[in-house]
Amino acid sequence: MASVPFDQLDGFIWMNGEFLPWQDAKVHVLTHGLHYASSVFEGERAYGGEIFKLTEHTERLHASAKILGFTIPYSVEEIDEACRTLLRKQGFSDAYVRPVAWRGSEQMGVSAQNNRINLAIAIWQWPSYFDPAQKLKGIRLDIADYRRPDPKTAPSKSKAAGLYMICTISKHAAEAKGYADALMLDWKGDVAEATGANIFFVKDGKLHTPDATNFLDGITRRTVIDLAKRRGIDVIERAIKPEEMEGFEQCFLTGTAAEVTPVAEIGPYRFTVGEITKTLMDDYTAEVHPAHAIAAE
Ligand SMILES: Cc1ncc(COP(=O)(O)O)c(C=O)c1O
Repeated sequence: MASVPFDQLDGFIWMNGEFLPWQDAKVHVLTHGLHYASSVFEGERAYGGEIFKLTEHTERLHASAKILGFTIPYSVEEIDEACRTLLRKQGFSDAYVRPVAWRGSEQMGVSAQNNRINLAIAIWQWPSYFDPAQKLKGIRLDIADYRRPDPKTAPSKSKAAGLYMICTISKHAAEAKGYADALMLDWKGDVAEATGANIFFVKDGKLHTPDATNFLDGITRRTVIDLAKRRGIDVIERAIKPEEMEGFEQCFLTGTAAEVTPVAEIGPYRFTVGEITKTLMDDYTAEVHPAHAIAAE
C-alpha cells in the first residue's frame, strides 16, 4: 500500500465528464451515496496497457446502478473510452481501475429521486491485493460471523457499496486475529465467498465452487471456469457445506484485485498449493496479458 494517503496522490480523476487534478475530485458531506449507500462501483485491472474485460465491467456497472434504481448518464462506450483515456493520462501500463457512481447532494433523506447521478473513475497502481510472500504459500482465512444476505433481503447481484459494509467488518475482524481475509457463508449457512473474491476448491482433479445464486458472479470466476474447461478440468457449481472443506485438497480465491490466490487455511481446514491451483494461476496470468505485451517481453 502507498504510504501517501489516497486523496493526496497525483495525477487525474475523471469526474462527470472532466479530467480533474487528483486532489480536486471532491464531494460534499451531504452526499446521498455517503449517508444511504446509494452507490455502485467496479474494480478492474489493466495489464500491459489494456483493461481486462473492460466492457464486461462497464456493463456490470450499468446493471448494478439499474438494480439500485438509477441510470448512469454515460453510455457503456463513453465510460470505456474515459477509462482508456485516463489510463493513458495516468501513464500506467499495469494498474487498478475504479469507476464509482453515486446519488449526489441535492436532496437529503431516504428518497432522493431527483439527485444528480455522478460518475468518477480513478486509476492507481495496486500490484498485489494480498502480501506477495503469503500469496505464494497460500493465505489464511478466518470464517466470518456475518453472512452474505438472502437475495430477497439485499440487491446481491449489484456491486453496491452497501453490500461491502459487512465485508469491511469481517475483513477487519479477521486481520485483527492475524488472518489475511475471511470466508463468508451465505444466509443458508453454505460456503459463499471471501470479502472481495470468489472461492474454488479442488478434489480428485475436479473444481468445486459455490453456485453464484447468493453473491456476485465474479468476472474472474467466470474466466477461471473457462480456463479450467479449456484444460479439460470438470467444474462443479453447487451448494457447498462448510464441513465439506475437510475433504478438499486445494483452495483458491478469484477476483480482479486478488487474481488467483491460493489458500492454505480456512478456520480448522488445511489445503495445499497444488498443481491445479498453480496451473490456473499461470493460465490466468497468460489470459489477462494482451498478446502484444507478451510479445514485447
Ligand atoms: C464480494 C466480491 N465477490 C467477488 C468478487 C470478484 O469479482 P470480479 O472477479 O468480477 O472482480 C469481488 C471483486 O470485485 C468482490 O468484491
